[in-house]
Amino acid sequence: MITYKEFNLKEYRNALGKFGTGVAIVSTKTNDELPVGVTINSFNSVSLEPPIVLWSLNKQSPSLKAFDDTRKFVIHVLSKDQVDLSKIFSSRIEEKFANVAYEFGKLGVPLIPGCSATFECTTWLRQEVGDHILFLGRVENFTSTEKEALLYYKGRYAKGTELEENLI
Ligand SMILES: Cc1cc2nc3c(=O)[nH]c(=O)nc-3n(C[C@H](O)[C@H](O)[C@H](O)COP(=O)(O)O)c2cc1C
Repeated sequence: MITYKEFNLKEYRNALGKFGTGVAIVSTKTNDELPVGVTINSFNSVSLEPPIVLWSLNKQSPSLKAFDDTRKFVIHVLSKDQVDLSKIFSSRIEEKFANVAYEFGKLGVPLIPGCSATFECTTWLRQEVGDHILFLGRVENFTSTEKEALLYYKGRYAKGTELEENLI
């Protein structure tokens, strides 16, 4: 693997970890209709009109082929009581959905119930960027609940969502 010599990789990752994010699971299915999912925090909104979101996946991921084949995915924004799900989908176990309830959403992609929000997407752009594949998705359907989101900060899960009043 080529490392970028001017950066100390550990320090660089620590610096990136200062940017707090939510946690999401992105799901899709294989050509044989098997559910596939990966924990991510690279999710972000890009455009409102049209509604476009982005996320990125490591090029080495065994799940990449399913995302490329199906060209549809669901972003599940996890709620604060879904740490266990995040751990399952960030592990290398083969059948991550073995003990996870799901149904098929409007696009025919596995949808996990009980999340803070979901975004059903069709792949709008797939771009190789360094060691990751960047996916941009057009949001076709979404759901939003009052469940508080799970957060990720400095490499750790966080559940505090105390909101400041009147900051903006
Ligand atoms: C909070 C968190 C965020 C993550 N974000 C990403 C991400 O944005 N992209 C990515 O490729 N991997 C990310 N990972 C790592 C993947 O979840 C992990 O490598 C997982 O094994 C991928 O599934 P796979 O084995 O099917 O590739 C993240 C892990 C955690 C715990």
